[in-house]
Amino acid sequence: MTKTIPDSIELGFHYRSDAPLRMLLLLYRSDWQKLVLSLLFFVIKHSPEWIRPLIIANIIDLLTQPQHHSLFNLWLNGGILIFSIMQNLPTHYLHIWAMSHAIRQMELNLRSAIIVRLQQLSISYHNQSSTGAIQAKLLQDVDKIQQLSQSVFQFIPAALLTILIAIAVTAQRAPWFLLFFVATVPAAVLVIQGLRQPMHDRNHVFRKQVETMSAHLSEMIKLIPVTRAHGAEAVAIGQTRDRLDAVKQAGVRLDGINAVTNASTWIIFRMFSAICLLTSAYLAHQGQLQVSAGDVVLLTGYFDTLTQSTAQILAVLPQMTTGFEAIRSVGEVLECPDLEANQGKQPINQVVGRFHFEQVSFSYPSQPQPAIQGINLTVAEDETIALVGPSGAGKSTLVNLLLGFLRPTEGQIFLDGQDMNHLDLRTYRQFVSVVAQETILFEGTVRENILYGSQSVSETQLKQAICDAHAEEFIAQLSEGLNTRIGENGARLSGGQRQRLAIARALIRNPRILILDEATASLDAASESLIQAALTTLMRGRTTFVVAHRLSTIHRADRIVVLEKGCIKEVGNHHQLLQQDGLYAQLHALQVV
Ligand SMILES: Nc1ncnc2c1ncn2[C@@H]1O[C@H](COP(=O)(O)OP(=O)(O)OP(=O)(O)O)[C@@H](O)[C@H]1O
Ligand SMILES: [Mg+2]
Repeated sequence: MTKTIPDSIELGFHYRSDAPLRMLLLLYRSDWQKLVLSLLFFVIKHSPEWIRPLIIANIIDLLTQPQHHSLFNLWLNGGILIFSIMQNLPTHYLHIWAMSHAIRQMELNLRSAIIVRLQQLSISYHNQSSTGAIQAKLLQDVDKIQQLSQSVFQFIPAALLTILIAIAVTAQRAPWFLLFFVATVPAAVLVIQGLRQPMHDRNHVFRKQVETMSAHLSEMIKLIPVTRAHGAEAVAIGQTRDRLDAVKQAGVRLDGINAVTNASTWIIFRMFSAICLLTSAYLAHQGQLQVSAGDVVLLTGYFDTLTQSTAQILAVLPQMTTGFEAIRSVGEVLECPDLEANQGKQPINQVVGRFHFEQVSFSYPSQPQPAIQGINLTVAEDETIALVGPSGAGKSTLVNLLLGFLRPTEGQIFLDGQDMNHLDLRTYRQFVSVVAQETILFEGTVRENILYGSQSVSETQLKQAICDAHAEEFIAQLSEGLNTRIGENGARLSGGQRQRLAIARALIRNPRILILDEATASLDAASESLIQAALTTLMRGRTTFVVAHRLSTIHRADRIVVLEKGCIKEVGNHHQLLQQDGLYAQLHALQVV
């Protein structure tokens, strides 16, 4: 039997996207030591950048004022410079090593948390959300959070550190020069403040457009056979182009605002840098404030480092806004409250297979009429119940109630005398097999598809299941037998073959309860009889609910439940119901069942 998944999400804390920066820090809760280590190595590896202007200034002073310095100073300065350059190899490696470990671990944790959450969210949530949009969150948004991490833990601290060192050295050599620094930063901050809101808005619009496009693209690809069969290629291409165009428009607007931000800050810094150079050169020329030629080089050098660092911080701001938006986007999954309520409920380790419906009603939130209404029904263990009724009668809704994908809005369903509302449905479903109307197969081998969801199955059990599903012959004819890859959703198999694989998959779990939604598509006589034979084996010795379309299935059922507009109209076996001459007899005459 399969293991149940843990209730807590991998992160070990509650995701709160309304405080994205705090959230980002929390994501690194377990790896903060690595971040600190990485920063430490950065300081060392980056030291040539701060040392160089000092050394150049020393050497220039040495050349312009040879009377004050000995040649030894030149070698000393040169030695320090070369050593500081050489140490870069090991320290840079260690800096990246520590950073990469922390960031990649965060990526892994976050993706796992999303996956766990997706498996906990209700089936209604999944029916409403698009695969493409979820994929975009799982792949692109986590990537963006990774980039954000790099900004917050690498670029920004590094730049801040550089600024601090530049300020400290300047304060020591020419304190009055700090005025330039002090004036530059508020000017840049003002510009950024003004652009923050439009930047945030355009990022949000862009992200939503990418999600819509992603959802549309996966739908378009899925629909290609239908599109082609209807000759609607031009329409599909046109619609897709519109989405792509919307992404382009949003992207261009976003790039535009980023360009304005970057250019404005660049201009501010370059202007201040130019003023700084001219002023210090002028003062040196006039012999005022004891500014030497070396000081001019040093100050302009540091001013450039300072402005570059500030510019770096400002340049990563747009990327950070994108990252914060990604944190919100991931929150749409991690904070979604629409979970299947299993937490704290009673797990079960045995199922007999008796059901009792007591005044069960169910209404979909969007529908005024209930889809299921006042159902009373008792089902004995090992009984086979056929559900029949016109389209929209509520058969699939009833099946989803049985599976616990939907919960009754009124009344109760009892399993072996226990209210299903009080059970951990994940443990219950380990005793259930479902053969859906449309067989869902995945890209993999025949063996992997049959064994999906089962653990520790022996080769003999596998062979037996295949034999009972009457799938032995066609599997043997495949080029590599059980190890043949079957293409996405069983593309290389016929409808009947796919159904028999689904039956083998259901059989191997040896379920106590079987839920079967018969395919409406008719098969050729040979496939039909093989499937009927397989189904007979499958239904034996378990409680079975079957949404039945085939006469042979209906004949074999112990009881037939006829539904209409969500209510039970008639219950009985085939002959009793024909004699009653009611809805079933009508449906039968019309060959609807
Ligand atoms: N996800 C949903 N949201 C809102 N209404 C729904 C949803 N699914 C079904 N319904 C409505 O509930 C009613 C019962 O639908 P249900 O799918 O159970 O019918 P059915 O008997 O399985 O029909 P069919 O034989 O065509 O599969 C219908 O009126 C349908 O419109
Ligand atoms: Mg249905």
